[in-house]
Amino acid sequence: MKVTLSVIKADIGGYVGHSASHPDVLACADECLAKAKKEGLLIDYHVTKCGDDLELIMTHQKGVEDEKIHKLAWDTFIAGTEVAKKLKLYGAGQDLLSDAFSGNIKGMGPGVAEMEFEERKSEAIIIFMADKTSAGAWNLPLYRIFADPFNTIGLVIAPNMHAGFAFEVHDVKEHKKIILNAPEEIYDLLIFIGAPSRYAVKAVYSRATGDIAAVSSTQRLSHIAGRYVGKDDPVCIVRCQSQFPAVGEVLEPFSLPHLVEGWMRGSHHGPLMPVAVQDATPSRFDGPPRVVAVGFQLAEGRLVGPCDMFADKSFDAAREKANEIAEYMRRHGPFEPHRLPLEEMEYTTMPQVAEKLAARFINLD
Ligand code: F6R
Ligand code: MG
Ligand code: MG
Repeated sequence: MKVTLSVIKADIGGYVGHSASHPDVLACADECLAKAKKEGLLIDYHVTKCGDDLELIMTHQKGVEDEKIHKLAWDTFIAGTEVAKKLKLYGAGQDLLSDAFSGNIKGMGPGVAEMEFEERKSEAIIIFMADKTSAGAWNLPLYRIFADPFNTIGLVIAPNMHAGFAFEVHDVKEHKKIILNAPEEIYDLLIFIGAPSRYAVKAVYSRATGDIAAVSSTQRLSHIAGRYVGKDDPVCIVRCQSQFPAVGEVLEPFSLPHLVEGWMRGSHHGPLMPVAVQDATPSRFDGPPRVVAVGFQLAEGRLVGPCDMFADKSFDAAREKANEIAEYMRRHGPFEPHRLPLEEMEYTTMPQVAEKLAARFINLD
């Protein structure tokens, strides 16, 4: 049976500030999707949150970029925004960059990751969702999951993975894409994805079977709006087991809280802390950035789960390490590399300050 898994997210209001989500907004989204399930548009759904982001996880049979599914997500965000406005939640409707739905939610503010596939005998999937960071945050973990034998032993010893994986990389500034094959092109691949503010891994495919293995959201709000309007807080779907990396291999890269951009005012680097859903409440200096992982087994499109993967005790050390790194980075205050490099600040608060002082800059002799 062919199933489509759509994960669509937006920040439509934070509680308190940009730190978390209000239960009434989640309840409203649940109501909207329950109705769509009853009417047969969705097979199943799960509503969750990561920090101030509302996450809609939906299964159906309409394929990717389906207008009805995207409209359902849009209408759900509009309904949630009404609730957020009544509660005067912070930044109500902040990610909805348009007044009216125009057929495809991509490019309208919300983040989208979707894949269509033939449901396997047993279909294990993990959905990663992050707050206070942006699309390129998945580059390092996706590389380690699908190309690094020191992370994924299956690449070495599982015959159905030995052929490697193909990475679809997007240049988010120039709107171009390229496919690079691992393992033989990993040096070329790393030149690009090692610069995550510009290049983001959009999808990964099995080279043995051609099957889609992973897909991420790569929207850059600032590029859509032409100015800083909040962070993109990305999501990523990964299929696990059998011809794909095992669940443990998929989670393993997050044992290192790697540095990502997006902390405080979208202008700072900080460690990505893996947490249980209930702990995805970035508060210290509006962070540090968080990532949650919810696991499901699919059964004819039904979402059996969620299983909160980072609730596991084995990620305690990663959380401690993240707090240590956060403390170290914070001591740099307004200095790089805690603060983002100048080119990135272009999309934050920098332009107004530069404009104000432009006339006071005089030429050196
Ligand atoms: C970071 C983030 C927050 C806000 C900050 C200022 O991605 O969302 O750190 O940037 O709280 O928010 P405003 O400008 O809405 O007052
Ligand atoms: Mg927010
Ligand atoms: Mg957010």
